[in-house]
Amino acid sequence: MQRQSLVIANWKMNGSRHLVKQLAKTLRDAPEVLADVTVAVCPPAVLLAAWQSEVFYDQVHLGAQDVNENAAGAHTGEHSLDLVAEAGAEYVLVGHSERRQFYGDTEQRIQAKVAAALSASETKFKVVLCVGESEQEREAEQTMQVVQAQLESALQNVSSAQMAQVVVAYEPVWAIGTGKTASPAQAQEVHAFIRQWLQQKYDVAGTSVPLLYGGSVKAENAETLFAEADIDGGLIGGASLEPEAFLAICRAAQ
Ligand code: G3H
Repeated sequence: MQRQSLVIANWKMNGSRHLVKQLAKTLRDAPEVLADVTVAVCPPAVLLAAWQSEVFYDQVHLGAQDVNENAAGAHTGEHSLDLVAEAGAEYVLVGHSERRQFYGDTEQRIQAKVAAALSASETKFKVVLCVGESEQEREAEQTMQVVQAQLESALQNVSSAQMAQVVVAYEPVWAIGTGKTASPAQAQEVHAFIRQWLQQKYDVAGTSVPLLYGGSVKAENAETLFAEADIDGGLIGGASLEPEAFLAICRAAQ
């Protein structure tokens, strides 16, 4: 199954209007990369509008780092799917480990966010479901169990047809922002497990789901990671704040 390479920048709580302009220019100047690789950028929500005026939707896609599962109402500080869509987002990250650890994303909320994003009628969102084990869980050899439980819960009510809108990002928590990358073999082992699980549950629809690796991906290690059979691209944190490094990572996915 030929899957399109996908690289997503997650700026987390970083960036500026200046960086929007810099990265937009760097990407605009590399049309040959954008022709081969689907590139999306998830800035802080307040910078989505700045991106909207720089792009070129057929070339660079926009995403939100999180979304509230409710359609509207008294949820101070939160963003609905309609609001992020209006600001240009087509992708939504759900269940990032930082949100699981620090901002109350329980399995139940993640399930609700996935369901809300997939059933939004105006925009066909792409949901990037993030899964991954902690260092203690890896040491206790519970990686596959943990990842499977996260997939089972988040995708419990998701149909095969809806899987065309789903991307899974494997991000071992111990590799996020630590400079400790999973080796290509370690990452591939978990990606192969996720692929097999998706195929068992969704048959052909499971084969076409893009699987991204995230966790200290850099220009120097991207190529060997992306060369693995079940790694279709990356979810890039720190290195996405450096336009040249991010472009090099996108090139590695070509
Ligand atoms: O969403 C991105 C991941 O959390 C990876 O972050 O590249 O800074 O390790 P990082």
